[in-house]
Amino acid sequence: MPRFRVGYIIGSLSSKSINRLLSKALIRLAPAGLGLVEIPIRDLPLYSPDYDADYPPEGRALKDAMASVDAVLFITPEYNRAIPGALKNAIDWLSRPHGANSLSRKPSAVIGASTGRIGTAIAQQNLRSILSFCGSPQMNWPEAYIQLTPGLITSEGEVTDPPTEKLLRSFMDEFGEFIVRVTTVLPRET
Ligand code: FNR
Repeated sequence: MPRFRVGYIIGSLSSKSINRLLSKALIRLAPAGLGLVEIPIRDLPLYSPDYDADYPPEGRALKDAMASVDAVLFITPEYNRAIPGALKNAIDWLSRPHGANSLSRKPSAVIGASTGRIGTAIAQQNLRSILSFCGSPQMNWPEAYIQLTPGLITSEGEVTDPPTEKLLRSFMDEFGEFIVRVTTVLPRET
């Protein structure tokens, strides 16, 4: 039984998502103390404050899923030098209604893969800024900007390049320790 439940959100809706491939690798390399569960965002309508009084089932399911995990891992592409709209939409749903922000004090980490050389660096900065505003304590280090070239990660999530495997493993190890630090010093209110 893992010590912590970690929800992961994939920022891409693509059926051929390289970030989903990255998620498979991260699941394989995660320490035994972390149990990873996907928090899906595909079926969410576009957020509007009009929903605040009565969230639709998709919005409630998202907030319930976030409430059920100890921490959240964002695995995102970069679209036009920012996070994809689908991910921003999910975060908007999570942040509301006012006073019921699901990301407040929820430990998080950010990682991403792109085909380009900067490996989602700009999107990750964009996401970090959003998570700061939402009050989520974020793992600052290590950073991981993955340029996902063909074959780097197999369809089963095996990493074929040892330095990349080492980076991803240490990223997950550090995230596990970060969650311990955040939740041990002052447990998140329920
Ligand atoms: C991209 N891509 C991209 N890559 C990048 O490094 N920086 C960028 O700003 C963008 N912008 C961008 C916009 C849009 C609309 C698309 C569809 C793609 C390329 C991107 O890295 C590539 O398509 C990845 O495969 C996206 O990740 P997923 O969706 O496969 O997980």
